[in-house]
Amino acid sequence: MTATHKQRSLSGIKPTGQPHWGNYFGMIAPAIGLAAEAEAYYFIADYHALTTVRDAAALRADSYDIAATMIASGLDPAASVLWRQSDVPEVCELTWLLSCVTGMGLVERAHAFKDARAKEKDPNFGLVTYPVLMAADILLYDSDVVPVGKDQVQHVEMARDMVGYFNAQFLGSSGYDSAGVWDGKGLKRPAARVQADTAVVPGLDGRKMSKSYGNAISVFASTKQLRKRIMAIKTDSTPLEDPKDPDTCLVFQLHGLFAPADEQAALADQYRGGNFGYGHAKLALVAQAEAHFAPRRERFNALMADTDTLEDILRDGAKRARATAEPVIERVRSAVGLPTRPIR
Ligand code: ADP
Ligand code: TRP
Repeated sequence: MTATHKQRSLSGIKPTGQPHWGNYFGMIAPAIGLAAEAEAYYFIADYHALTTVRDAAALRADSYDIAATMIASGLDPAASVLWRQSDVPEVCELTWLLSCVTGMGLVERAHAFKDARAKEKDPNFGLVTYPVLMAADILLYDSDVVPVGKDQVQHVEMARDMVGYFNAQFLGSSGYDSAGVWDGKGLKRPAARVQADTAVVPGLDGRKMSKSYGNAISVFASTKQLRKRIMAIKTDSTPLEDPKDPDTCLVFQLHGLFAPADEQAALADQYRGGNFGYGHAKLALVAQAEAHFAPRRERFNALMADTDTLEDILRDGAKRARATAEPVIERVRSAVGLPTRPIR
């Protein structure tokens, strides 16, 4: 690998319902931004979704929803690789090989698994393997950077740990020289990339925005739904004429996701100046969100009306993803002592 080699950016998103602003600002937009400078590999994590989803039709529909969201948000599927995780089943093979070098202690420390344990008496085994499958996703494509929201950083760290275990146990070295240059023999170490200002987008109740908290705004909510969700945000009872503190206001914070710095500063002045109510701030937020999402929503709706084209895009992406994965899985099989596959 020379210094001039383009980095490979890889990330995944689960098809578990409509993507929300947290997904968009935490992962989708930064990932698409990276596509300008890196080779972009983004996929729909349908195997991961099966840790929770029990509705086959919903899984299929939500997979198209994610694909359409990525494209409508600016990802060029010809210039980058967009595919469905399960279309490259080699990822399951690598999951197994990584499982054989990963201690139980590591997977039990995963926050997501601990949360599942706290909520359910007997969480399914897929949740235990979740970070191993995620590591396989990343390592199967020799990825360099992984754009994610803050909650996924621990999983990327685990993938880094697994690179260490694998290379040490099968190749007897870290795979890296003292200058940090990879030898190309074992697995390649990735790094998480978190967009600092949107690492944790708050939801309508002030907690982290999440599908599971019911506090989310969908990326392509209709104008009416968007307005309804925003107007219902709870604010304090400071009278209209009194000055208000923008820094403690959720509406202000969400407005900052869209507004350039000067507009955000102007809004802060209005808060502090008095005679400016939360209702006014909410309308400003509706206007910003609508200006940002309306053109993308139109493209999204057009894409969703033609799932045959989406299917073609995903199949083409899977072919290209598989071509990248092929030499990696062969390298890994050879390192552990498995034969070259006789049948492809
Ligand atoms: P959810 O928590 O709603 O189920 P996912 O786990 O599917 O969301 O997350 C998909 C991607 O979006 C991940 O990279 C995750 O870190 C990011 N993400 C999710 N919620 C947020 C949030 N509130 N702020 C920032 N990033 C987020
Ligand atoms: N676990 C991630 C999430 O819940 C989705 C995901 C699966 C992923 N595989 C990945 C993200 C590989 C980055 C890289 O959001």
